[in-house]
Amino acid sequence: MEIVITETPEVAAILAADIVERALTTIATPVLGLATGTTPLATYRELISRHVESGLSFVAARVFLLDEYVGLPRDHPAAFRQVIAREFTDHIDLPMTGLHSPDGPAADIAGAANDYERALADVGGVDVQILGIGSDGHIGFNEPSSSLGSRTRLKTLTSKTRIDNARFFDDDIDQVPHHCLTQGIATILEARHIVLLAFGESKACPLTRAVEGPITAMVPASALQLHPHVTVLVDEAAATELSYADYYRETFENKPHWQTF
Ligand code: GLP
Repeated sequence: MEIVITETPEVAAILAADIVERALTTIATPVLGLATGTTPLATYRELISRHVESGLSFVAARVFLLDEYVGLPRDHPAAFRQVIAREFTDHIDLPMTGLHSPDGPAADIAGAANDYERALADVGGVDVQILGIGSDGHIGFNEPSSSLGSRTRLKTLTSKTRIDNARFFDDDIDQVPHHCLTQGIATILEARHIVLLAFGESKACPLTRAVEGPITAMVPASALQLHPHVTVLVDEAAATELSYADYYRETFENKPHWQTF
């Protein structure tokens, strides 16, 4: 994997936005996979400013979310589809029909899971997938013990994940759903380019386990070690436990000028 350690999250966000911009300007109908949470927000803000100030267009793009809570009303402010619209897609020229998310409110969750897999297949899969990482090493809502061969399906959230996400529910854990509909690990690994973002000391441990530890279902993000094109963008605080940090820095500093991410 290509691991890049940046001074600040803002520098990493610019590099992530560069990767997305390249997909938007070189692929006829680019498919972007988006993560929720706080980590990718700086990247989304950077992309919004490039749209507003430089005319970067998303009109041909399609967006697919990683996951959605089960049991939340569609208009709940913490529903991931609402969050992504509020924080990102309402501010760019993505067509109304361009935003896709797992149908968490559906009565038939298994059917909704299959529908989502089919929707991803119908557009030919994801070109660039933005990922964050949970404090327990999850990607999407694939909690520890998730099969590394899993597809979109219902998952039960761990109490740690519910605690981590209570911040989006007025800090009231009782409001946080117990279940979600999430792309599976195998589904995520089908993206052609994955950009994993991690910032802050709370991500140092899960990030190190993900990129330098053994491949294990107990650290779902470690499955990324099997993917042929992963760019890991981390700030100094999230890099503190990396054993090969000096090598990653040297590699990036000596990156051939013609080599893109
Ligand atoms: C949730 C989301 C993940 C996200 C994670 C970390 O679990 N389902 O996609 O990566 O939170 O969120 P944050 O970036 O706010 O730390």
